[in-house]
Amino acid sequence: MSVHLSRDRVTVPKVLARKGGEKLVVLTAYSMPMARQLDPHCDILLVGDSLGMVLYGLPNTLTVSLDMMINHGAAVARGAEHALVVVDMPFGSYQESPQQAFRNAAQLMAQSNAQAVKLEGGEEMAETIAFLTARGIPVMAHVGLKPQSANSMGGFKVQGREDAEAEQIMRDAKAVEAAGAFSVVIEGTAEPVAARISANLSIPTIGIGASGACDGQVLVTDDLVGMFGEFTPKFVKRYADLGSQLGEAARRYAEEVRSGAFPAAEHCFGVQAKAKISGDR
Ligand code: KIV
Repeated sequence: MSVHLSRDRVTVPKVLARKGGEKLVVLTAYSMPMARQLDPHCDILLVGDSLGMVLYGLPNTLTVSLDMMINHGAAVARGAEHALVVVDMPFGSYQESPQQAFRNAAQLMAQSNAQAVKLEGGEEMAETIAFLTARGIPVMAHVGLKPQSANSMGGFKVQGREDAEAEQIMRDAKAVEAAGAFSVVIEGTAEPVAARISANLSIPTIGIGASGACDGQVLVTDDLVGMFGEFTPKFVKRYADLGSQLGEAARRYAEEVRSGAFPAAEHCFGVQAKAKISGDR
């Protein structure tokens, strides 16, 4: 069995060097125990703002706060020894100006101990990405389907099916690359478009509902293990069904509490000592 924990820490330059090479493995993580489990197997742990929907049951990611991202980012950073930890900048924390983005990204990194931030946007965010990267903040960009812009995009719709849309996503990807992003997530985008972007960029592309030709793949871990809802999007492959297992464990526990089978003597303190004393009498 290989011991991945002993490998060197993944860094931003190492991610860049993976362009066109060994695929990058990325999963979301929101907590320390989850990070510990995923860390040996992943190159990047993404503390995505999807946590608003997955953990907090919010209807979208728009109300996720900077404090939520700092707290979950810090928990994940404590559980990661190997993977690069990237934290999402929440909606409203970076769109106003490059200065606002820098202030919040610096706070996010300083207080979470993460190594990079991710923000959604293409051409319109290029100036901000350049501002951050010039000041020591590595940025992973995010183009195609941008959940924080779901209201303007008319919902969670696959992008790039029309020629004009496809060309815009290509321009977005090129713009974030030129601005200094060290990688770019391509989400919910027609496969040929994502493949073409990957072939035309010199930074790694990380696909989700995009293309196998991307330099890496990311999934929301809770989707991967069946912990989030009944609906599984087309682009998700389920590798476990922990949701059902959790339900079954709770059902058995409830049954045993109600029947008195739990706790048994071995789960209680002092039972044997008491028996010994009464036996001595
Ligand atoms: O918020 C998130 O988890 C993400 C990934 C789905 C890429 O942005």
